[in-house]
Amino acid sequence: MKRIVILISGRGSNMQALLDANLPCQVAAVISNRADAQGLEIAGRKGIETAVISHKDFADRAAFDSALAAIIDRFAPDLVVLAGFMRILTAGFVERYRGKLINIHPSLLPAYPGIDTHQRAIQDGIKIHGCTVHFVTPDLDHGPIIIQAAVPVLRDDTPQSLSARVLCEEHRIYPQAVRWLCRNQVWLDEIGRVASDRLEQPGAALISPGLE
Ligand code: GRF
Repeated sequence: MKRIVILISGRGSNMQALLDANLPCQVAAVISNRADAQGLEIAGRKGIETAVISHKDFADRAAFDSALAAIIDRFAPDLVVLAGFMRILTAGFVERYRGKLINIHPSLLPAYPGIDTHQRAIQDGIKIHGCTVHFVTPDLDHGPIIIQAAVPVLRDDTPQSLSARVLCEEHRIYPQAVRWLCRNQVWLDEIGRVASDRLEQPGAALISPGLE
C-alpha cells in the first residue's frame, strides 16, 4: 500500500477530509510548520504520527526545506500532500519530490494564484470560481492540474460565504485526486503533463447565474 505524508499549517479541514475518505493508502504522518495548528490535534486523535518543524528555527528557506525533507523522508512517502501548508517551497525541495508533491489551491488556476483568492474573485465580479488540485512545480500555484471544481459566485457573497462554498468542493476533489494517484491512475509524465489511464467522465456545465 502506498504511503502519504500530509503537510499542514492550520485548521486542517482538507487533511481531515483525506483522513475520513478511506483512501487506498497509509497516512504515515502529518507534519506542521506551526505547533498550534488545529489539524495536529485531529490527526493525533486518529492515531496518526505527527511532527512539528518551525520555519522560525531556520536561517533561510533552503535550511528549513532541507530539514523538512529530512523529516518527510523518514516516513518514506510515495506522495507528499500539501493541505493548507502556508510556506513557499524552494525549487530544490520541489524538484526532490517531482511527481510526488501535490497541492490544493482555492481558485480555478491559473486564475488567482497566491492569497486572498475569494476576495479578489468577488472584487473582479467573476461568476464562476472554484478550487484546483495540482502537482507542485517551482512556479508558485502554476503546476500541472489534476482536478478542478467550479462553484457559482452569488450576488451577495462575502469572502467567507464564497470560501465556505469552495471549501466543500475542496473536500471532495482532494480525496479523489489522492485516490487516483495512489491507484496509479494519474501521474506526471516525463514532459511534465498530467497523464491518466482512466476513462474520462464529462461533468455537467456550470452556468452562473443560471439560465431562466
Ligand atoms: C484551503 O482553502 C486550501 O485550499 C488552501 O488553504 C486552505 C487550508 O484549509 N491551500 P484547511 O487547513 O485544509 O482547512
